[in-house]
Amino acid sequence: MSGGTDPQQADGPGGPRDHARPAADRGSHRNGVLLASGVTSNSGRTVLPELRMKVNGSPESLDVEPWAGLLDTLRDKLGLTGPKKGCEQGACGACTVLVDGVRIVSCLALAVQYDGREITTVEGADHPLREAFVRHDGLQCGYCTPGQICSAIGMLSEYAAGMPSSVAAEGLTDDEIRERMSGNLCRCGAYNGILDAIADVAARDAR
Ligand code: FES
Ligand code: FES
Repeated sequence: MSGGTDPQQADGPGGPRDHARPAADRGSHRNGVLLASGVTSNSGRTVLPELRMKVNGSPESLDVEPWAGLLDTLRDKLGLTGPKKGCEQGACGACTVLVDGVRIVSCLALAVQYDGREITTVEGADHPLREAFVRHDGLQCGYCTPGQICSAIGMLSEYAAGMPSSVAAEGLTDDEIRERMSGNLCRCGAYNGILDAIADVAARDAR
C-alpha cells in the first residue's frame, strides 16, 4: 500500500484541503464541532455529525453517520415508514419526500445534506391528494402511494410556479400530469386512478 495521501480523502469533508474552502461549503460549526459535513472536533475526538431538521413540523436533533442516507434516517431513526425503499437508485420514486416543499428522491440523498431544512413525508402531508387517491382508487398494494402523493404535491407546486415540462401543453392536461409524474412508477399499474386523483385536485385548485 502506498504511503501517499488519498486525494479524495484530502479533498473530502473535514480533510486537509476542506478547510481552504469557504465556510458555507464546509458545513456549519457549533461549539467548535464541525457539524453535518465532518466527524472531527477541536479535541480530536471523533464525533458523529449532529443533524437538526424539522420533520413533519417537529424539530429533530439526530446523531447520524456522514454516510447515512436520508431515506434510512427517516425510516430507521424517526420511524417514518411512509417513504418506501423500492429501487434505491433514483428510478422508481417510492422514496419521494418534500424538502422545503420541493420533491426529492430520498434514497439518493445523504441525511447530512439537509441540516437545517424542513422535510415532509406522507405522514405529515396534510393535502387533499391523500383523500383523492382513496376516492379515485389511485392505489392497489399501496407501496408506491406515499411517494406518488409527495411527488404530486411537489409537482402541483412546480406547475403553479410556471416550471415547464417537455410536454408544454396548455393547462395541466392528462399528458402533462403523466409527464410530470413519470418519475413515480406503480408496479400495480394503478395509473388511471393516480391520474384521476391528481387531475381532480388540480381542477379544484384551478377554480
Ligand atoms: S427507492 Fe428511491 S427512487 Fe426508488
Ligand atoms: S399501488 Fe402497488 S405499486 Fe403502486
